[in-house]
Amino acid sequence: MADNSVSDDAMADDLTPPTRTGLRRRRAAERLPVRLLGDPVLREKAAPIAADAFDDELRHLVDDMFVTMDAEEGAGLAAPQVGISKRVFVVDARRDGGGKESRFALVNPRVVEVSDEIDAGPEGCLSIPGVSDVVRRPAQVTMEGHDVDGNPVRVTGSGLLGRALLHELDHLDGILFVDHLSPLKRRMLLKKYRKLQEE
Ligand code: NI
Repeated sequence: MADNSVSDDAMADDLTPPTRTGLRRRRAAERLPVRLLGDPVLREKAAPIAADAFDDELRHLVDDMFVTMDAEEGAGLAAPQVGISKRVFVVDARRDGGGKESRFALVNPRVVEVSDEIDAGPEGCLSIPGVSDVVRRPAQVTMEGHDVDGNPVRVTGSGLLGRALLHELDHLDGILFVDHLSPLKRRMLLKKYRKLQEE
């Protein structure tokens, strides 16, 4: 029966979550659990996507990451945050006044240019929920990489987009925003975070 087949599918989904070694094929994008501070995958250096790996598995991952970022109301999400140690992130900086060009996935990103000007702005992370602090970063960055189909792309961002690009790139190298804080500020922020987690 149709109803049964639907619930069987839903159950199969529950029993076979995505793993770090590979993603199963599935029909619809789904929200993935976000890994939190302390999970070792957040400290790994993520692996590049090989030239022959711009495939359905990558597209599924990126679709799931968009759904997850939206559900978490984030401005960006990197693959290691959903347990996949690969060099992929998604950003959405439209709340900063940008159009749909402020929402995209970037694969194998690399910095090609940063401004000398520094911008100090508030920053948080979906992997360290509930806390934020001011982080100093270049005010503008240009990155090159590929879209999910393997086409070369070049993006320049400032404001929220620039900050999100640099924050997400950090994730691919195992760096978290708290690493940019002074030892004292970092200690205070992590203390507050642990207290929140205990509640
Ligand atoms: Ni983050």
